[in-house]
Amino acid sequence: MVICLFSLLKLKFIIAVSKTIQFQTEEEFTLSLFNNLTYNNGGGLYIEESSALIQNCSFSNNKAYLYGGALLHNISNNQIAQQLFNNQVVLLKNNIFQNQASIAGAYYSVQGLFPQYFYTNNTINQNQANIFGKDLVGYGAGIQIIINHIQVDYQNFIYSHTTGKFQDSVIVEVINQNGELYSFRQNNGTFNLNNLISVYGQFNSEVELVFSSDIIQIPLYQNISDSLQISNYSSKYYAFLKIKIKNECNPGYELQKFQTILDYCSPCLEGYYNTQPNQHCIKCPDSAYYCKYQTILLKKGFWRENSTSSNILACNQNKNSCIESQAGVNLVNTNQQCAEGYIGPICDDCDIENQYWGQRYQKIGNNQCVRFNNKLVQVTSS
Ligand SMILES: *[C@@H]1O[C@H](CO)[C@@H](O)[C@H](O)[C@H]1NC(C)=O
Ligand SMILES: *[C@@H]1O[C@H](CO)[C@@H](O)[C@H](O)[C@H]1NC(C)=O
Ligand SMILES: *[C@@H]1O[C@H](CO)[C@@H](O)[C@H](O)[C@H]1NC(C)=O
Ligand SMILES: *[C@@H]1O[C@H](CO)[C@@H](O)[C@H](O)[C@H]1NC(C)=O
Ligand SMILES: *[C@@H]1O[C@H](CO)[C@@H](O)[C@H](O)[C@H]1NC(C)=O
Ligand SMILES: *[C@@H]1O[C@H](CO)[C@@H](O)[C@H](O)[C@H]1NC(C)=O
Ligand SMILES: *[C@@H]1O[C@H](CO)[C@@H](O)[C@H](O)[C@H]1NC(C)=O
Ligand SMILES: *[C@@H]1O[C@H](CO)[C@@H](O)[C@H](O)[C@H]1NC(C)=O
Repeated sequence: MVICLFSLLKLKFIIAVSKTIQFQTEEEFTLSLFNNLTYNNGGGLYIEESSALIQNCSFSNNKAYLYGGALLHNISNNQIAQQLFNNQVVLLKNNIFQNQASIAGAYYSVQGLFPQYFYTNNTINQNQANIFGKDLVGYGAGIQIIINHIQVDYQNFIYSHTTGKFQDSVIVEVINQNGELYSFRQNNGTFNLNNLISVYGQFNSEVELVFSSDIIQIPLYQNISDSLQISNYSSKYYAFLKIKIKNECNPGYELQKFQTILDYCSPCLEGYYNTQPNQHCIKCPDSAYYCKYQTILLKKGFWRENSTSSNILACNQNKNSCIESQAGVNLVNTNQQCAEGYIGPICDDCDIENQYWGQRYQKIGNNQCVRFNNKLVQVTSS
């Protein structure tokens, strides 16, 4: 059990909700209350209308349903506290661990004041918050840009973009001073630009998207008693994403111009396709029963080398070796186009060596493939 020392400045000091101790002057006392408590706000200690110096205390396993798992500071409007201690709560040599709250697992200040020496002169460990700020509520401190799940160094980054909606996952996040997501106004701090923004421009042109937020506050430091403390916040912060419009349309799209000022890539609609960048959309061939974007679904009896090839070959019409393409199935192995037992270009060979079909097949009669069978071999070879 830890004994701790307080120096309080006057006024009300509330321990939990039910018990109010009124101090008239600065005084010191020992106390060891701050463990395993659960309240709406300030699970361990609720400091109201007071400044405080809290030293050598341990706050552990406290829980607040709302704000401040271990401590909550609420000055409302007290001029004396303001004058004497500049409304500060000073925390020194405390051990604050395993506390929980919805918001700010360790310490919450209603007025948004940062507790002095919080991280530098206390041991802060394993606190948790449901929404944000595992220790402190924090402030919006920055914006980060995440492309395909990787944070980019946006100062030195140029994003290569096909005109229109983003093809990659492009997410902008507001973070607090600990680099955690900073939720605000019903938003968890993430903005998915794929759903929010389309960027058009002429090929090879460059644009810059600038992100800023009025909730981002960058701390300004002041040297107080030989230690840097936050004195005020600045809201002049922005991040940006430099975008270069790619000089091409992806397969499945073709270039269109809008009044000579914009290039944009319009999709190949049903009945058309292309398979190479910058190709025009091509009419669906007779050998296919469906085309759209870069998809071609072949009729029975036709074959192609791979999913980007538009060179379509007819199979041997006598043996039904090529089956109809299946919608929604990626062509990863050319033998997917073959009937059972057949493999190879235009599915003309039998799977004699069991390369694909899980057993051996052999040729009979008019080059048909059937399951390998010893007796059959003897019959046909005799
Ligand atoms: C707090 O609760 C834990 C687990 O319930 C218990 O082990 C511990 O002794 C309690 N601490 C205090 C100071 O009561
Ligand atoms: C805090 O605790 C340390 C050792 O436990 C002790 O030496 C020191 O005097 C204490 N400080 C105060 C202000 O009580
Ligand atoms: C802070 O104090 C004010 C004034 O007493 C009160 O209305 C408010 O509910 C308090 N906030 C919290 C989170 O306790
Ligand atoms: C905070 O900790 C540092 C390093 O231990 C120490 O030099 C400094 O005096 C402490 N600050 C206060 C206000 O106790
Ligand atoms: C943030 O919210 C969005 C939807 O509002 C959700 O898709 C996303 O997974 C959330 N992110 C986190 C880290 O909770
Ligand atoms: C704060 O100011 C004092 C003198 O005014 C100086 O010696 C000290 O290095 C400064 N501290 C920091 C962290 O800038
Ligand atoms: C904090 O900065 C804002 C502008 O950024 C300014 O209006 C305000 O007066 C400053 N407050 C203090 C206490 O310096
Ligand atoms: C796809 O097939 C075409 C011939 O139709 C060939 O030129 C191309 O290299 C093949 N692509 C791949 C990835 O194998």
